[in-house]
Amino acid sequence: MLLNIPGVLNAEQIRIVRSRLEGAGDAWVDGRATAGYSGAPLKHNRQLAEHSPIARELGDAVLGALERHPLFISAVLPNQVYPPLFNRYEAGMTFGNHVDGAVRLLPNGVKLRTDVSATLFLSAPEEYDGGELVIEDTYGTHAVKLQAGDLVVYPATSVHRVTPVTRGVRIASFFWVQSLVRSDAQRALLFDMDNAIQRLNATEADEIARRDLVGCYHNLLRLWSEP
Ligand code: NI
Repeated sequence: MLLNIPGVLNAEQIRIVRSRLEGAGDAWVDGRATAGYSGAPLKHNRQLAEHSPIARELGDAVLGALERHPLFISAVLPNQVYPPLFNRYEAGMTFGNHVDGAVRLLPNGVKLRTDVSATLFLSAPEEYDGGELVIEDTYGTHAVKLQAGDLVVYPATSVHRVTPVTRGVRIASFFWVQSLVRSDAQRALLFDMDNAIQRLNATEADEIARRDLVGCYHNLLRLWSEP
């Protein structure tokens, strides 16, 4: 499931994050630092050094915003979120077609299975040309370029790329999520069901039928979720 999640950061939060990133100086390193051996030759961008204090500080700010976002929780059913990273594409920079690595090591040594990939746009679309996130899934090819503060989530199994930036600078945060529900199809079904329940909650719907539907949602989640 490919989903746009608007308004993860508001204008003031973006202003603060952007100004901190602009002052990050030599914390910006070659983006190949976190690419695997197959991704490295395709990746041409800058990235905030993963364990630098500023990356951790800004990553925590993004995590805090995600925890308060009901649409993110409902769509992704997060078990564990990888500490968000930050990247920067200047004119000529790009990241060719790849699939994200299946497993990443968290700072505490625990392994995280990447079920969902996520990109949080921090530059407004009019600030740069090119730089689309192009995602291929079973329904075709989707070029994604969102407003600053908006997030796109998509299956980590997807082939995707960032097209070359031809003007300006594209800044984004990106991360992966291990979901409680590994299967994208099962997760999408739970999301549809949750949306229907939310709509019923706002109506005078049959209370017993509504309660039974909520029960089905939780019992499916119990059946499909992993620790
Ligand atoms: Ni990727």
